[in-house]
Amino acid sequence: MSTTDAQRYQAPPELLKDKVILVTGAGDGIGRAAAIAYASHGAQVILLGRTVARLEAVYDEIVALDGPEPIIHPLDLAKAGEPDYQQVADALDEQFGHLDGLLHNAGILGQRTPIGKYHPAVWQEVMQVNLNAAFLLTRALLPLLEAAETASVIFTSSGVGRRGRAYWGAYAVSKFGTEGLAQVLSHELEEISKVRVNCVNPGATRTNMRAAAYPAEDPTILKTPEQLMPVYLYLMGRDSAGVTGQSLDAQ
Ligand SMILES: NC(=O)c1ccc[n+]([C@@H]2O[C@H](COP(=O)([O-])OP(=O)(O)OC[C@H]3O[C@@H](n4cnc5c(N)ncnc54)[C@H](OP(=O)(O)O)[C@@H]3O)[C@@H](O)[C@H]2O)c1
Repeated sequence: MSTTDAQRYQAPPELLKDKVILVTGAGDGIGRAAAIAYASHGAQVILLGRTVARLEAVYDEIVALDGPEPIIHPLDLAKAGEPDYQQVADALDEQFGHLDGLLHNAGILGQRTPIGKYHPAVWQEVMQVNLNAAFLLTRALLPLLEAAETASVIFTSSGVGRRGRAYWGAYAVSKFGTEGLAQVLSHELEEISKVRVNCVNPGATRTNMRAAAYPAEDPTILKTPEQLMPVYLYLMGRDSAGVTGQSLDAQ
């Protein structure tokens, strides 16, 4: 399927029935929309994120839509260490014994400033949340992904993760790293495993992060997170079986 076809993908209502899918940064923006879209298509969703009240609001929305009851797993990816990731894996192992899907979506913007003025502590935090956390979570969950019949891992990239641009600092570098992590992992797994690994670049989307990056922009000219969901559903469901190592634009 071409990228354009993936952008127009119409997911069957039962696409993700009985699938177990973890979404990071599920409390707001694109992660919230993805968690709701996956649950609306039948998935049992694990809502991982930092702010419990936001995760609870998404939980309530999913229950109100009659989706399978989600699970909330609060975790601050800026502070989490290896034992925290293992705890996520152990809890999922005990409850399900496998994981069908993993959407790495949580991210922070950091500073919009020249490299020479970039604050080292902010740099570290952006790299931790956007890149290192995705590595640590994937590493902990890989045995559960491999225990699924087939599984899909989606990393979230950005236009500045494919071509660097002035003043995007650690955010851009973390997204280059994310594209690299997805390529290395997909190559490692493509011959030996039924786990497929791809990247999505959401493109300019009406969220708090976009508003922070472009405060003067009129948000109503931007696509909403819900409008990006065809690509997120396509990559998560069976219709993308065999697609791995790709980096798709959601719009
Ligand atoms: N919006 C765009 O135009 C755009 C364009 C290209 C790429 N992206 C990428 O798309 C993804 C989603 O972005 P968005 O625009 O939806 O951003 P957003 O509205 O700011 O949402 C980001 C989500 O990540 C969570 N998060 C941030 N730091 C975290 C931490 N330390 N631990 C756990 N969760 C944390 C946030 O949790 P809280 O609810 O607690 O804040 C929030 O739920 C990001 O990876 C971003 O880089 C966005």
